[in-house]
Amino acid sequence: MDKAKRKAIIAGNWKMNKTPKEATELLNAIAPLVADADCEVIACVPYVDLAAAIEATKGTNIKIGAENCHWAASGAFTGEISTGMLTEIGVEYVVLGHSERRQYFGETDETVNKRTKAALAAGLKPIVCVGELLWERECNITEEVIARQIKLDLWDVTEEELKNVVIAYEPVWAIGTGKTATADQAEEVCAFIRAQLAKLYNQDAADAVTIQYGGSMNDGNADELVSKTNVDGGLIGGASLVAEKFAAIVKAASK
Ligand code: PGA
Repeated sequence: MDKAKRKAIIAGNWKMNKTPKEATELLNAIAPLVADADCEVIACVPYVDLAAAIEATKGTNIKIGAENCHWAASGAFTGEISTGMLTEIGVEYVVLGHSERRQYFGETDETVNKRTKAALAAGLKPIVCVGELLWERECNITEEVIARQIKLDLWDVTEEELKNVVIAYEPVWAIGTGKTATADQAEEVCAFIRAQLAKLYNQDAADAVTIQYGGSMNDGNADELVSKTNVDGGLIGGASLVAEKFAAIVKAASK
């Protein structure tokens, strides 16, 4: 499959950073720098920043995503946010199953799957995160871990729905640590993910899925990472909070 036929996506994952006012300032700084991007540009921001972010990016090529969503339409789920609350204000993407949610907030493949199904049903595009722990890599079970996550997180997701799914491969040992997977390591696992998708669906469906790399991706290493056949962009944490760095990564993915 010609990589150029797949949509490259650079998405910022702001995590728990920036107030609404700061979000507006950062997006105003990013917008002119990425205006001529030849890839999709997304900022996934904290819930309370979403309205300000959508307002700030009107008329730009930046799309806005949330960092999680619940699977129920409404109800007694204190502290949670439903898909309908997100779509009504114009949110298009949602990060699901991020390793920080899995590590600190008890997220499991089952809940990631429920959230993914709900997001798709609501017309949101989920960015589903998978990745192995350092210990799992050292024990040589990276592929087992990833195959299990892909199978469970996408359980019951139809081939039609898969067209709206983005996968982010984020080795947990590379997130926020400054340790990036080498471009070859990223390619190896992203290619493995695509092969799993081909098994679960078919090769055409698998070839059309955008698979991002995430984990200490920055303006210095983005070029090499996104040059790999199966790496279709990135999910960027720390570097997405600095307009110039984020814009440089967008530029690398636009080549
Ligand atoms: P990082 O985070 O770029 O700061 O490593 C990536 C992520 O967690 O999505």
